[in-house]
Amino acid sequence: VVDLAGNDYLGLSNDPRVVEAGIQALRSWGAGSTGSRLVTGSTTLHADLEAKLAAFGRVSSALVFSSGYCANLGVLTALGGRDTLVISDADNHASLVDGCRLSRSRVVVAAHGDLAAVEDALAHRTEPRCLVVVDAVFSTDGSLAALDDLHRLCVRYDALLIVDEAHALGVIGPDGRGLAAAFGIEHSPNLIRTVTLSKSLGSQGGAVLGDSAVIDQLVNTARTFIFDTALAPPSVGAARAALGIIQDEPHLISELHDRRDQIAAALQVHPPAGAVISLVLGDSERASQAAAHCRDNGVVVGCFRPPSVPVGQSRLRITARASLTAADIDRATAVILEAVHHPR
Ligand SMILES: Cc1ncc(COP(=O)(O)O)c(C=O)c1O
Repeated sequence: VVDLAGNDYLGLSNDPRVVEAGIQALRSWGAGSTGSRLVTGSTTLHADLEAKLAAFGRVSSALVFSSGYCANLGVLTALGGRDTLVISDADNHASLVDGCRLSRSRVVVAAHGDLAAVEDALAHRTEPRCLVVVDAVFSTDGSLAALDDLHRLCVRYDALLIVDEAHALGVIGPDGRGLAAAFGIEHSPNLIRTVTLSKSLGSQGGAVLGDSAVIDQLVNTARTFIFDTALAPPSVGAARAALGIIQDEPHLISELHDRRDQIAAALQVHPPAGAVISLVLGDSERASQAAAHCRDNGVVVGCFRPPSVPVGQSRLRITARASLTAADIDRATAVILEAVHHPR
């Protein structure tokens, strides 16, 4: 089958160098990390990955979690609290939504991309502290956050902007360094970024990038860091190798963009800035049938229905990958068009 559903944007999860690095880590350190990060789970491999992620993100520190989900929960629960207002975009990923809920903060959900709603909440806050939380690339529709405007608001109203770069790392921005880097705000003291190691890095795990004071605070208070078994060494080794490849081989990112543009052109949709193309079909039954038609014809696409998207906005979610061939794209897009325009 042709896979247009996965998040392995640069095709690195099966890259022989990434696989070999995972095997080496497995041999050197074992299958599991044996404990939480503060007990026995931290290896020099974890520390080295953190140093490399911080250098890539142009910040002083990074902290690896066992998943992107845990990274988001960890940041929001550690930095939120009863004295904090959290302003969250309505289309944020479930891990950010759950982090907001667990943070015990008052949460204002702003309509998707509604800067006026964010500013209104900031201007009228009664809490001494405030976090604004957003996906850089929204995972279901592939749209981008207006990070420059949000960042400006956060500086003006003394709030911290938490950006989830899960679908932006290795995909957009200079050398694939993400959306905050594209806007030149990565050094801002008002910014913290979370990433996952499971998409363009082709491995597993998550991380938070920020300055050392914030990372120290997370080490001491983020419950998903403290009370969770550390990321397994093979995943750490594989992610570290993948990060090196992204830095050494920027052509992979251009190839991803070319494949994305070819898919968008064939499907006659506007190419997105990231690698996620969303075809909204409306009815969940219709989306399921279209996805089944694709699968029956050897093409796997994402089928997003409620609760992943609002009722009436079910869709096919299609992802580009640098390693797709022109033949894969021709065949897959013909099948998708047939599924969308000639439903059974
Ligand atoms: C935007 C976003 N944030 C966070 C996550 C969670 O990352 P992980 O799968 O590493 O837990 C995902 C998806 O998996 C995601 O799409």
